Amino acid sequence: MGIFSGKEVVLGVTGGIAAYKACEIVRELRKDSANVHVVLTRSGSQFITPLTLQTLSKNPVATDLFDLISESEIGHISLAQRAHLLLIAPATANIIGKVRNGIADDMLSTVVMATTAPVLFAPAMNTQMYASAAVQDNMAVLRSRGYHFVEPDEGELACGTVGPGRLADVDKILEMARIVLSEKPLSGKKVIVSAGPTAEALDPVRFFSNRSSGKMGYAMARAARRMGAQVTLVSGPGAIPAPHFMDTIRVRTADEMFSAVSRASADADVVVMCAAVADFKAKKAAPAKIKKDGFDYRLELSPTVDILETLGKKKGKRILVGFAAETDDLTTNAREKMRRKNLDAIVANDVSRADIGFESDDNEVRIFFPDGEIRELPLATKEGIAVGVWLALNGKLFRR
Ligand code: C5P
Repeated sequence: MGIFSGKEVVLGVTGGIAAYKACEIVRELRKDSANVHVVLTRSGSQFITPLTLQTLSKNPVATDLFDLISESEIGHISLAQRAHLLLIAPATANIIGKVRNGIADDMLSTVVMATTAPVLFAPAMNTQMYASAAVQDNMAVLRSRGYHFVEPDEGELACGTVGPGRLADVDKILEMARIVLSEKPLSGKKVIVSAGPTAEALDPVRFFSNRSSGKMGYAMARAARRMGAQVTLVSGPGAIPAPHFMDTIRVRTADEMFSAVSRASADADVVVMCAAVADFKAKKAAPAKIKKDGFDYRLELSPTVDILETLGKKKGKRILVGFAAETDDLTTNAREKMRRKNLDAIVANDVSRADIGFESDDNEVRIFFPDGEIRELPLATKEGIAVGVWLALNGKLFRR
């Protein structure tokens, strides 16, 4: 179950060229099971029709406060009260200015004033307008009153200018909406998550690696960010795009991951090693491509540094969490690793099963704690498992 599941989202669409992107926002919200009610301003309706938004949202579109028919069908106060989130995308300089100044002269500005739900603005406008003292000042005041913003992207705008002002990418807007909607039990925590495989070079063209996709680690990083943590993700090579609203450090080898995790975790509260770090590397990677002819097929390996074990020796106040991918004797192996690496918890999963583990979108895990307690998280999406792991860690470790 995603964060939008069962949520009532009011989407305010104001009058800018980016209004056409509201269609995609509605579709994505609905795909994630939100019930979407669109409020379209008069100038917004110059760019996109109510019929389009009504068809996509499958709900009547509110266009004007004083339209008696739509008022009786929708009702601005009930819309404001029912909303779990009010998202204004695109938000023009005009709506930002109106909300800052308490003007409620149409449906959208009235709903904003009447709601107690969180309000998220996704501004989109010309670069100079966005940089203007009026807009910047209005945004600062609204931020101080608890309103949320997702900054516009930089790029070529419809007016031809290049600079900040382009509506943030839809997936970025949705991610900020998820952050805004989430409870924040990890607020104030600095979290490091490692993810993915490492790749160890044999020569300039060849390497060995493992089957880790990074999905579990990325899900752990995103869940921590949504729950309010400041997150640094240290990622091995993989195809998943960098998550929004966190630092992502990309590495290739176990040695690079060791340096990045050590540096990032110096002042961290929690280090979660989800990465499938190579246990061995080539003793000496060949400086030039190894030729077929004359190669004697003996590869000398040397062990890599165990990152968690090293951190575990000088743990301080940091909480260290490992992941154990096992094919047999899950409980014995996981417990032994937790003890040897001096961990506060270890999350174990059975990678011999085809329905969970490596490339799968789902997982099922058992969390072991040093006091003998075991928490079982039944089969769920990796996103769902990540939330469950953080809640278990939070309940058990962070409140002491
Ligand atoms: O010993 P094993 O590799 O099975 O332990 C798994 C846990 O240890 C994972 O959390 C993994 O990220 C971490 N690890 C590490 N450094 C290594 C190898 C594994 O931190 N070199």
